[in-house]
Amino acid sequence: MATIGFIGSGHIGSTVARLAVAAGHDVIMSNSRGPETLAELVAELGPLASAATPEAAAEQGDLVVVSIPLKAIDSVPVAPLDGKVVMDTNNYYPQRDGHVAALDDDSTTGSELLQQHLPDAFVVKVFNNINYKHLGTLARPDGAPDRSALLVAGDSEPAKQQVTDFLDQIGYDTVDAGALGEGGRKFQVGSAAYGNLYGDLSSPDGTPADAATVLSVLMKDA
Ligand SMILES: NC(=O)c1ccc[n+]([C@@H]2O[C@H](COP(=O)([O-])OP(=O)(O)OC[C@H]3O[C@@H](n4cnc5c(N)ncnc54)[C@H](OP(=O)(O)O)[C@@H]3O)[C@@H](O)[C@H]2O)c1
Repeated sequence: MATIGFIGSGHIGSTVARLAVAAGHDVIMSNSRGPETLAELVAELGPLASAATPEAAAEQGDLVVVSIPLKAIDSVPVAPLDGKVVMDTNNYYPQRDGHVAALDDDSTTGSELLQQHLPDAFVVKVFNNINYKHLGTLARPDGAPDRSALLVAGDSEPAKQQVTDFLDQIGYDTVDAGALGEGGRKFQVGSAAYGNLYGDLSSPDGTPADAATVLSVLMKDA
């Protein structure tokens, strides 16, 4: 079993952590306000969980999830993530993050900005297009007939394989959308694959979407 570091422990970070702990992984949670503010979450997650600073979560994680508002990515520690696989859940919402010209004119993507910030890490875009509640409720064991697939995009095939293995352990199949930029655009905010692919927000349990369904939605934007 691995240690998963979390930079950001909000809706998505804590949901991935719950799934990771259920799969037997250790998790190290962090946020901007300090480990002491995560005591309740760590108690809920149980003995496999601890809280630390973002630097320590980055340093100790075998795999690291970055799940913070995009406007905060410049604060992600760089050196401890060298050589590591980083799962990027982030979305660009100008009303929340402020306008970024290169994102507004689509000359780059949020995941590529994180990759630029972490030049020696292997960034894989994942989890950004599923609501956190649905991410929690749609996880299924391998072989379940209603197992869903999640999209990944990244420039490193071994990194995507590591993320695919992790997704399998926490209850999901994987569909590879391609490279970080071109592939990631296929499921960023505004794409057909963003939003209701796993059911409408009014449905608390979500709607399973298998690999064929995910692929067919990806093709709508092709
Ligand atoms: N909510 C969803 O269903 C969903 C689904 C897919 C993707 N996303 C995307 O995933 C990202 C996170 O979303 P969320 O809903 O999980 O947000 P959230 O609930 O607001 O949680 C954000 C987390 O990031 C932490 N944080 C903020 N600035 C930080 C920094 N500089 N260093 C370390 N931690 C920092 C916050 O800690 P403090 O409270 O201590 O600042 C908090 O733990 C966003 O980009 C969002 O668009 C969200």
